[in-house]
Amino acid sequence: MSSLFVVLFFLFPYFVSPATSSNTSRVINLNERIHANIKPTALYSPSGRFAFGFLPEGDGFLVGIWIVGDTNSTNSQNIMVWTANQDHPPVSSNATIELTGKGKLILNGEILIDPPEPAIVASMQDSGNFVMYGENWNAIWESFNFPTDTILGGQKLSAEKELLSKASPSDFSTGRFCLKMQSDGNLVAYPSKIIPKSTDSYWSTGTSGSVDLHLDKNGALKLEDGFNSTVIKQLNENYSGDMPTTIYRATLDPDGNLRVYFNTSTNPLWEAFNDTCAVKSFCGYNSYCTSSDNQPLCNCVPGTDLINYSENYNGCQRNFTKQKCTDGKADTRFYYMTTMEKVKWEDVPYFNAPMSEEDCKNSCLEDCDCDAAEYDSTTICTKYKFPLKYVSPYIQRNSTTFLKGGTKRTNRTIIFIEPPLVLATTSKKTWLLILLLTLFLVTYSCVALATFGLFIFKIRVIEYKKLLESGTSGLAKELTLRLYSYKELKEATKGFKEELGKGSFGAVYKGTISEKLVAVKRLQKLVEEGEREFQSEMRVIGKTHHKNLVRLLGYCTEGCNRLLVYEYMSSGSLADRLFQSERPNWQERVRIALEVARGILYLHEECEAPIIHCDIKPQNILLDEFWTAKIADFGLAKLLMPDQTRTMTDTRGTRGYVAPEWQKNMPISLKVDVYSYGIVLLEIICCRRNIDLSVSRPEEIQLSGWAYSCFTAGELGKLVGNEGVEKKSLERMLTVALWCIQADPILRPSMKGVVLMLEGLTNISCPPNPTA
Ligand SMILES: *[C@@H]1O[C@H](CO)[C@@H](O)[C@H](O)[C@H]1NC(C)=O
Ligand SMILES: *[C@@H]1O[C@H](CO)[C@@H](O)[C@H](O)[C@H]1NC(C)=O
Ligand SMILES: *[C@@H]1O[C@H](CO)[C@@H](O)[C@H](O)[C@H]1NC(C)=O
Ligand SMILES: *[C@@H]1O[C@H](CO)[C@@H](O)[C@H](O)[C@H]1NC(C)=O
Ligand SMILES: *[C@@H]1O[C@H](CO)[C@@H](O)[C@H](O)[C@H]1NC(C)=O
Ligand SMILES: *[C@@H]1O[C@H](CO)[C@@H](O)[C@H](O)[C@H]1NC(C)=O
Ligand SMILES: *[C@@H]1O[C@H](CO)[C@@H](O)[C@H](O)[C@H]1NC(C)=O
Ligand SMILES: *[C@@H]1O[C@H](CO)[C@@H](O)[C@H](O)[C@H]1NC(C)=O
Ligand SMILES: *[C@@H]1O[C@H](CO)[C@@H](O)[C@H](O)[C@H]1NC(C)=O
Ligand SMILES: *[C@@H]1O[C@H](CO)[C@@H](O)[C@H](O)[C@H]1NC(C)=O
Ligand SMILES: *[C@@H]1O[C@H](CO)[C@@H](O)[C@H](O)[C@H]1NC(C)=O
Repeated sequence: MSSLFVVLFFLFPYFVSPATSSNTSRVINLNERIHANIKPTALYSPSGRFAFGFLPEGDGFLVGIWIVGDTNSTNSQNIMVWTANQDHPPVSSNATIELTGKGKLILNGEILIDPPEPAIVASMQDSGNFVMYGENWNAIWESFNFPTDTILGGQKLSAEKELLSKASPSDFSTGRFCLKMQSDGNLVAYPSKIIPKSTDSYWSTGTSGSVDLHLDKNGALKLEDGFNSTVIKQLNENYSGDMPTTIYRATLDPDGNLRVYFNTSTNPLWEAFNDTCAVKSFCGYNSYCTSSDNQPLCNCVPGTDLINYSENYNGCQRNFTKQKCTDGKADTRFYYMTTMEKVKWEDVPYFNAPMSEEDCKNSCLEDCDCDAAEYDSTTICTKYKFPLKYVSPYIQRNSTTFLKGGTKRTNRTIIFIEPPLVLATTSKKTWLLILLLTLFLVTYSCVALATFGLFIFKIRVIEYKKLLESGTSGLAKELTLRLYSYKELKEATKGFKEELGKGSFGAVYKGTISEKLVAVKRLQKLVEEGEREFQSEMRVIGKTHHKNLVRLLGYCTEGCNRLLVYEYMSSGSLADRLFQSERPNWQERVRIALEVARGILYLHEECEAPIIHCDIKPQNILLDEFWTAKIADFGLAKLLMPDQTRTMTDTRGTRGYVAPEWQKNMPISLKVDVYSYGIVLLEIICCRRNIDLSVSRPEEIQLSGWAYSCFTAGELGKLVGNEGVEKKSLERMLTVALWCIQADPILRPSMKGVVLMLEGLTNISCPPNPTA
């Protein structure tokens, strides 16, 4: 039925033309336009799940095809799956796309798509394919034939075609990696900057023959015979979703990994490899990759530092100046050799000869050309020049490498971007001062004016002092909080337009500061308190630094406006994840639980002065793009409650997560956070809210009570439904949670204890009834 409709639709493009003037246009006819700033800004597929057109991004608009985010769910992100004019910056708001009378698609007067014959109509299809039709209603151009970094369910990557990664998740220009379906049948990933040589590849399928890469509609990523579609190999082995409404996509991500995703989720169903360091050129030349907490970390080899201080992945260069060479010999006063064990690189040496280890070292030291040498167990010394390609620490080798260092520093100066605000305003202030003085002299007789001027001057001086007080005095950037003006933040958030959420302190808005996404929190309902207290509190928060805490980047305090600027967490809150259909799996939940515990432990025991969070709940736990859990809103409790150890006003804490002693107006301690954590842990285990009125049996309404009864009855499986979980870790997590939610704060473990128990480093005894 629906296909009939589509056919009719195309047979009578002019007949249905009026419909295209609505906001959800599906086809573009000759001489029709779409504008970046006037509706329709995009062509939508009949189901509305794909769109072609202008997608707002940063200050401009991207042009291409995207999966439309579900505006009703928290996962409202649009996912770009095909980008037109990839290497042009985003277009401005006056941009238009037009299907000209000559049958070409143009963007701002320049050709965007030039099909082999004139097109008469173009349409966005439900498969995600943007198709242009010629006179005979034949498809003359399809976006499926020109993939950028993604193929969609139903799409094939045929021989000689390739995917090119984006530069970064937010930069849609061509990035560093390339996945090529070679004509020899091998699917190979290369760093794209180089001319492909098999030795440069970092991943391949090892297939041969006539082969296509095919992501089928059920999400299976297969290598198929190009003629009869026989499956040669399925990459995401054993996977076969059977949800006809799900959109699958396979993307070569900016980090060089190939991943399969569904819908607009950014959590992969499958990835080609699990260690980014496996990507050979990930760190660039003279640099090697190590994994820390599953994150890649680039390290310069000794004697070098980053080529570009703001680009970790761009490789390293010498940090010393080479001296003049006389008679082919280096002046050894200016050089020294360092040793590195168990590394390897893939370069061709310019010299090799048998000699002793000591001779090898000295030979490189004295050789003007030598930057590095390798000495292996066969007593051969090989010498190399920079750059060293694909340095890797993983290969277990019985060899020693020497790297040349120099004592003469290069005259390169380290420039940190954005000097603190103070500098800029000081010069302004000086001008102002001069102006005011002139004004004062000129209008000496005019007392009224002079008084007015003096008044301004005084205010400015006070402001200036304040700026100095919050002084940043060029310390390391990480530890410095920036002071923003209200105007700056208003501009950054486009007038507080896009609200990300509302918390107990006020609303949070999305903003962009120097091209980086930030979250701006506008504080409301603060207790009366002075400027000084607010600033000293900011400084306490600014000094916290832990990977499971959301970073405070800066703040604004102007008049009665108090705003905090935080790093932006792209994956929303834990509540969004846990209580929606697209849940983290068991391993991820175990990891998240531990991350949250580590964050709280840091607040309690590891930072300068203990900080009681007072409002631990899934809404205050945010997830970054890698789904690392980070705690938000810490350190703010004091601003609402002048004395934390005193009793609670009911401004803080959230029902369901608040410890019993707090409800009874008894003094509170760090243990209130342990209680709240226990509830959160139960919610993480069971993926449901502590209080859930939608359950069928009344004893299940309150999770904490039900969990204990399941625990005593030995029916742990009931809590997690039929999801596959590891029984041992389930039991451990549940036991920890039951200890945390003990009514008596003394019985609750400290956060240190919680972390040790979760890590399985201490034994856990059987918890008593929490409510007893
Ligand atoms: C269509 O656009 C008009 C104005 O351009 C707007 O008022 C209306 O709400 C839009 N409808 C939808 C469904 O977006
Ligand atoms: C979003 O929710 C509104 C009302 O809650 C509903 O009318 C609309 O159809 C929903 N949209 C989608 C895309 O589900
Ligand atoms: C769009 O606006 C920019 C300035 O904002 C201008 O330079 C450019 O010429 C305009 N383009 C068109 C097609 O009007
Ligand atoms: C498909 O074609 C290949 C050669 O291209 C052949 O080797 C293979 O047997 C064929 N498979 C089937 C099922 O016909
Ligand atoms: C796929 O299934 C086979 C047989 O059931 C099993 O041996 C193999 O380990 C599975 N592979 C993966 C990646 O789960
Ligand atoms: C993907 O989205 C569609 C439509 O919103 C939905 O029916 C489907 O269940 C989603 N798939 C998954 C795996 O959540
Ligand atoms: C990555 O996968 C390998 C096997 O494919 C496994 O041994 C290793 O533990 C995995 N590493 C991580 C960090 O998951
Ligand atoms: C160059 O970097 C190394 C560390 O890789 C350091 O030990 C050395 O002092 C630096 N050399 C100069 C001249 O700064
Ligand atoms: C260093 O990297 C930054 C960020 O990618 C870039 O904007 C800048 O132009 C680079 N600087 C140089 C000298 O290449
Ligand atoms: C490594 O080389 C040394 C000689 O340089 C030799 O004594 C040692 O046995 C070798 N070890 C291995 C594991 O080959
Ligand atoms: C570094 O020194 C060289 C030669 O002494 C000079 O040409 C160059 O301009 C200097 N660079 C900087 C950044 O001072």
